[in-house]
Amino acid sequence: MTARKRKSSAGGLPPVPTIPRVLDGRAALVTGAASGLGLGIAQGLVRAGARVALADIDLASTRGACVNLTREFGGGCCLCVRADVTDEASVERAFRQTLAEFGGLDICVAAAGIAPAYPLVDFPVGPWRKALDINLTGYFLAAREAARILVRQRRGGSIILVSSKSGLEASKANSAYNATKAGELHLARGWALELGPHGVRVNAVAPGNVFRGSKIWNKAYIRTVARKRGLKASEVIPYYIGLTALGLEIQPQDVAGVVVWLASDAARTITGQTIVCDAGQVFVR
Ligand SMILES: NC(=O)c1ccc[n+]([C@@H]2O[C@H](COP(=O)([O-])OP(=O)(O)OC[C@H]3O[C@@H](n4cnc5c(N)ncnc54)[C@H](O)[C@@H]3O)[C@@H](O)[C@H]2O)c1
Repeated sequence: MTARKRKSSAGGLPPVPTIPRVLDGRAALVTGAASGLGLGIAQGLVRAGARVALADIDLASTRGACVNLTREFGGGCCLCVRADVTDEASVERAFRQTLAEFGGLDICVAAAGIAPAYPLVDFPVGPWRKALDINLTGYFLAAREAARILVRQRRGGSIILVSSKSGLEASKANSAYNATKAGELHLARGWALELGPHGVRVNAVAPGNVFRGSKIWNKAYIRTVARKRGLKASEVIPYYIGLTALGLEIQPQDVAGVVVWLASDAARTITGQTIVCDAGQVFVR
């Protein structure tokens, strides 16, 4: 590759890599796929050849994403379904629709999540409970439905939980997020033990901060973080990028690439693990 083509995004690093087509013929469902990381992962799975159900409570945005994907990759590459991950019947319906459309399921990615950030002494119980409901019960309901289908099909499969580096290293004044994201890592470990005999792998990814397209990183959240860190709002993103060993802004497609690899046969020995994709901020021992 010529030096000109290999334009660096940080230091000597190449730009965000393209996604290899390693999931041809697979079917997937992604929760939280209307925006941010869930959307980036859904797009990555489609690029890798999978047919993907984009499930989210925000149907309008999910529809828009499906229109764009269909324009790029052709009819049948995706399906948009409304799902409230905290509602058992809604989650079951989303999986039923996916099976009816794709005829099976191979991959489930749970990404619908929220991050209500308050100091402990000011934390209202409502947002606390909502975080537990979406980030833990939502992951449980999606994984349970996926596991029921994958076990019944008897052809293995892959369940991937989108956790966070905050599940490994607590972030300040963010206790509901810290606790639920740590909980997701342990859910993956336990479910890996249960589902291993069925050839179903369960793993977690722990991304660092991903700003592009994220509704979690909205203006109000950035202002809260700025106050917490004693920064101006405009300094927040450069501050977090500066915390990474690579000095690199992580893009949704970086995380999508890791998810695609985890879902592929190349990762057939990987289960119960946490793959940290944070440009070198939290180091697991
Ligand atoms: N952005 C980051 O810096 C970052 C870093 C690490 C991990 N994550 C994780 O990635 C996931 C997505 O984060 P994001 O920053 O892209 O956020 P986001 O707000 O852009 O996306 C979250 C999506 O979840 C959906 N959602 C919320 N409640 C729902 C419900 N009850 N049922 C169905 N869908 C619902 C929202 O409509 C939204 O489309 C979260 O689990 C988050 O913890 C994000």
